[in-house]
Amino acid sequence: MRSSFAGKNIVVGVTGSIAAFKVAGWVSTLAKEEAQVSVIMTRSAREFIAPLTFAALSGNPVHGEMFDPVRAERMDHIALGRDADLVLVAPATADTIARLAGGLADDLLTTTVLAARAPVVVCPAMNSRMYLHPATQDNIGRLKKFGYQVLTPAAGMMACREEGPGRLPEWEDVQEILLRAVTEQDLVGERVLITAGPTREHLDPARFLSNRSSGKMGYALARTAFRRGAEVHLVSGPVALPCPAGVRRVSIQTAREMHAAVSQLADAASVIVKAAAVADFRPAVEEREKVKKDRAGLSLELSRNPDILHELGQTKKEGQILVGFAAESSNLEAEGRKKLATKNLDLIAVNNICSDSTGFECDTNQILLIDREREVLLPMTGKEQTADMIWDRVVELRRQRQEMSGGGR
Ligand code: PMT
Repeated sequence: MRSSFAGKNIVVGVTGSIAAFKVAGWVSTLAKEEAQVSVIMTRSAREFIAPLTFAALSGNPVHGEMFDPVRAERMDHIALGRDADLVLVAPATADTIARLAGGLADDLLTTTVLAARAPVVVCPAMNSRMYLHPATQDNIGRLKKFGYQVLTPAAGMMACREEGPGRLPEWEDVQEILLRAVTEQDLVGERVLITAGPTREHLDPARFLSNRSSGKMGYALARTAFRRGAEVHLVSGPVALPCPAGVRRVSIQTAREMHAAVSQLADAASVIVKAAAVADFRPAVEEREKVKKDRAGLSLELSRNPDILHELGQTKKEGQILVGFAAESSNLEAEGRKKLATKNLDLIAVNNICSDSTGFECDTNQILLIDREREVLLPMTGKEQTADMIWDRVVELRRQRQEMSGGGR
């Protein structure tokens, strides 16, 4: 599957910080994902790392001087900014941030940023006292006013042997911000609530009833919704996945905890997607002490858990789009249609849980996507691509509703 960075013109402005070494790895990744990467290095950046490193990793010559007599006809100081799909300034020193905040254009990097109309992402990296100084904070505030996205640096031990905020963030977090910057923002204005993962229904302090959900499908929906511009809340059962960048996560264990968290967030949501595998039953009694094995046998009495999706269908707000999932082992279409109707859903994603490459745990999925107008069997693909196809349908449903109501959400 082609990366979203493929074919994008990405200008990376590297300034004078030891963290420039980390950015070399980022450039290498972007180039491997087939982005066209043009690196601009300031003079002080070249003190820390040789331009040859970035030239080799990006596969392109590195830009340094504003007026290069060899390439004078290209007018690099304007062309790089004008042709960019994205400008990333990383690491950004206090000095570069100050010069960008002042609108200076006294070197190739600042000129390129001024000439750019593409999204600009700035990753500050410096000593924490410099970062926390009111001058730097004011300058960062100005950059944000210009519409630049300024990342919060990570905290920890720095090259100067001091501890505090100022470290360059990790690629996994930066990557999500960059992907959002190069992705069409067709979910802007949507407040999305997603549930993911399993629930655990406790029997005693050691044991619980649960299911095979890994959270991969729900987390892919959260990541892709954020990239497409949505504000995302994720209510998640216990999974081994990190919280996606830009997403607000509420962690729960039981179905009743998920019910409480979802009920609190549902009113404000414009789209709700229930990808979680919620336990329908819980042990009627949760034992305080561990159940001993010397009993002759054990029969378990179970109580019904709330059907969260059903309740959301009953209390659906005007304009809200409600998307359910169905985990089925047979009669996919009939079961999906039944849930669509009885739970008052706008869309349902039905998956077959009896195959190794769809449903629980695996990285791929194949969804039968049903709404009131159509039914489509999506191709077998990665869960992220599946998530994008579900969002495509949500965007269409939103557009149809807006056309019918003659405007607003
Ligand atoms: O997490 P992964 O390993 O990536 O696996 C993904 C998945 C298979 C879990 C996911 O794609 C999926 O199918 N999720 C729904 C699982 C499920 O509980 O299906 P269901 O048919 O039992 O429930 C129907 C719908 O009602 C679901 O949206 C579910 O979230 C919701 N529900 C169910 C029971 C309940 N008490 N409350 C609910 O809200």
